[in-house]
Amino acid sequence: MNTLILDDVKAVESSKKILARLWSQHRRQYVNLFFYEQEVKIKDFDLTPLVDCGILSENKGRYSANVQVFPLSGRFICTDFNYSTRRKKGQTFLTEKDGVWGILPEETPLMAKKNIARKGDVVLDLATGSGMIGIFCAAKAKKVIVSDVNPRAIHYAKFNAILNGVAHKMEFRVGNLFEPVKRQKFDLIIWNGPTVAVPETKGKYPIYSDGGMDGASFTKQFIDQALKFLTPHGRLQWYDCAVGDDKAPVSMHYLMQKWRDKPVRAHFLSLTTEPLPLEKVFAVYDKYNLSSPAFRTPLSVKPVTAAEEKRWHAWLKQHGHTHCYYGIVTVEPARKFSFKLEFPKRDIRTDRYLTRYWLWMSYPTILKKIKVAESY
Ligand SMILES: C[S@@+](CC[C@H](N)C(=O)[O-])C[C@H]1O[C@@H](n2cnc3c(N)ncnc32)[C@H](O)[C@@H]1O
Repeated sequence: MNTLILDDVKAVESSKKILARLWSQHRRQYVNLFFYEQEVKIKDFDLTPLVDCGILSENKGRYSANVQVFPLSGRFICTDFNYSTRRKKGQTFLTEKDGVWGILPEETPLMAKKNIARKGDVVLDLATGSGMIGIFCAAKAKKVIVSDVNPRAIHYAKFNAILNGVAHKMEFRVGNLFEPVKRQKFDLIIWNGPTVAVPETKGKYPIYSDGGMDGASFTKQFIDQALKFLTPHGRLQWYDCAVGDDKAPVSMHYLMQKWRDKPVRAHFLSLTTEPLPLEKVFAVYDKYNLSSPAFRTPLSVKPVTAAEEKRWHAWLKQHGHTHCYYGIVTVEPARKFSFKLEFPKRDIRTDRYLTRYWLWMSYPTILKKIKVAESY
């Protein structure tokens, strides 16, 4: 069942003004509703359209949010909550199998704001989730096609496009990778897809976070196919977080091997000043997610066992994967192939080892993170 209702397009369209007013005049309540999932009472404010289109539920004058609504540079993007107090089982925050990927502080907003779409481009936002990246591209692009394998995600993307007044510039497709856009060409293909490295556990991870054991299974399929979907001046841009050795992520080793004869210039901008040693990443993850009873936030649908985790660590070691990378990859046409991996002077991604989720941040920290996202 879809949480967001598209039957009444007028209610969706008029919701943006109300969200903007809530955000500017009742900021604390906005955060309580859409970041902390708390029930709130807001007097003298007609929230009916938000209830009519499924953003809020109302019970005896008190409102609660059915979705997270992320405010970014004048847009409002609805997604499912990645971790929800309503899906808490014991001490563990379980995720949803077909949920729509929520907004993390230093990921989707970063890609949305750093998009390299140009005026007049025809853009494909692959694996769009809530549609946030495509919606930001629509400001400059002539047309944006968004696609995702999850029909619920495409429903949300359509809802968000209407909410933000750009639906007339967008098309919505459901399907695996390039299936929905066969025989089409794009000036820009942009994406933040499933690139999280996870243990092999048969169905324990939802489609949005399963990047295979090295985090690069989706990326490798993309690299195999992407160039034939580009116009002669077409470009690529994606968010990458695969594991690798101390030289480069496995996704970039694959790119260097597959595209060594292709006329493209590829650039990996790391979001941290150096590759992150996996040992350190796992130690921090264990400390806060597994050993701490107050902070268990796996991205899995069912908890992963210690034996599964151990097998995965052994596999990573066996394949020489010692580090983890976060980066933005851009690819553009050139006379011949080149590749550059660049590390910034200061971390762009400030949560180096573990992404903190909104539920565990203080109110001032949430406002600060949103402000940082605005400045990307
Ligand atoms: C980490 S989420 C990111 C969503 C969105 N791009 C964002 O930045 O918020 C990954 C997305 O990839 C989609 N996905 C996973 N496998 C896919 C596939 N084979 N083809 C198309 N989309 C896929 C998921 O449904 C999910 O929406």
